[in-house]
Amino acid sequence: MKRTINFLPQSIIIMEHENVKQNRTPLLDAMIAYKKKNCTPFDVPGHKYGRGAQELAEIFGEKALSLDFNSMKSLDMLSNPTSVIKEAETLLAEAYGADYGYFVVNGTSSAVKSMIMAVCKPGDKIIIPRNAHKSVVSALIMSGAIPVYIQPEYDVKLGIFHGVDTEKAINTINENTDAKAIFLINPTYYGAVSELKPIVEHAHKHGMAVLVDEAHGAHLRFHVDLPSSAMEAGADASAVSTHKTGGSLTQSSAIVSRQGIIQESQIRKYLNINGTTSASYLLMGSIDGARKNLALNGTKMLQEALDIARYARNEINKIPGFHAFGREIIGRPGVYGFDETKLVINSCKIGITGFELYDILRDQYNIQMELGDAYNTLAVISLGDTYESIQVLINALKHIAVTDYRNAKNINHLKNVGELEVRMSPRDAFYSDTERIKLKESVGRISCESIMAYPPGIPIITPGEVITSEVVDYALHLKDNNALITDVEDIELNYILVVR
Ligand SMILES: Cc1ncc(COP(=O)(O)O)c(C=O)c1O
Repeated sequence: MKRTINFLPQSIIIMEHENVKQNRTPLLDAMIAYKKKNCTPFDVPGHKYGRGAQELAEIFGEKALSLDFNSMKSLDMLSNPTSVIKEAETLLAEAYGADYGYFVVNGTSSAVKSMIMAVCKPGDKIIIPRNAHKSVVSALIMSGAIPVYIQPEYDVKLGIFHGVDTEKAINTINENTDAKAIFLINPTYYGAVSELKPIVEHAHKHGMAVLVDEAHGAHLRFHVDLPSSAMEAGADASAVSTHKTGGSLTQSSAIVSRQGIIQESQIRKYLNINGTTSASYLLMGSIDGARKNLALNGTKMLQEALDIARYARNEINKIPGFHAFGREIIGRPGVYGFDETKLVINSCKIGITGFELYDILRDQYNIQMELGDAYNTLAVISLGDTYESIQVLINALKHIAVTDYRNAKNINHLKNVGELEVRMSPRDAFYSDTERIKLKESVGRISCESIMAYPPGIPIITPGEVITSEVVDYALHLKDNNALITDVEDIELNYILVVR
């Protein structure tokens, strides 16, 4: 019998028997069954179900440690799954409307690298929005692929980058028909989505694979009010951070893919190259459980998350000086849809930078936000949020609005870094002979490293790009604002490694 489940996106019409299948958790079940057998372990992990790590067992819970297994016959093996992991991956694929699913235990960074390496050999071109995560740069270094960057659309009012313009993406495909793939982000950290479908169709006309970063979109598939997922738009593969908005444990992630341009075995091959040989069952089991939860309860839980986000937006927009944008940004350049669970709070008018607001909320109000940038602070509203928890944030913002945190300084409107010249491939620059010079004296030189604040982990310069004065100013601005700088040798940003 066919039925439409309440709240479910129209596109997800689930056959009753499939929903029953989504009720299963083959990997979790096998883990519990193995634990019940009370086997005498002479394999690793050496804590032997927590007995050799009493303090950890007390802190993490004995149950968690007693389920911390390594690969074995009855529990399958991630590098070549044939039984319970394979079944769990198949259920994952079905839940996401994909042909194949792959569990990933080294974070979405590993998923992104494996996806790109599955498609690009050294020297192959790949089209990439320039606001991609640092894992994409790692993939370029490791694969030797050559990036063709598309500038995403910059929103001057909000001080953030959105998605890519459809026409720009299509033109870039036309100008680079020899590219092996186009990489897209769905959604950006701040919730904007590019118009996936026409870009996917156009890329496919040229035999190009479409790879999607859904690090912030593991939930999209499960509610009709959220933008389309990569698989719904016909993409070939997507890296899905189940751990970010899908409810699994930190570092667990997944790839879902479609039969066609990319072979299933290619993705598995590169996951094995990038991955561990000791995949954590706690992480994998958590993906199995999170998938079941999303498939069975996701729509209802996301309805609640959306209601909370909408309520919060409304309340925040009543507080003088704060602004939380919503669906009204749809239609701006690079915004073809918007994920309302990304609650971005702009504090420009109150005279506080996003970095400052992030710190104030944590240090003065015990509220941990997802990220702060020059102008905004981001709250991710997800499966575990409640009206009580959002009220804590709203009350804090009300208090901040009438407290003298404001230093009344004008938010220094930073010059956007803009398009940079790629003079060398990321791999060649990364492996070239380097020279360590003062950042302030580096304009015109080719960088050997990436500079970024984490989060969001979007590099302002990557290996192979030519350093400009805007890059130097932006980097120093990040430093002045105590942003967490990563990936450069000198995190004080006094020096940078450039090609000799
Ligand atoms: C857009 C994007 N892609 C990929 C990643 C990598 O995810 P992970 O931290 O799971 O490796 C992140 C992490 O924040 C991200 O923001």
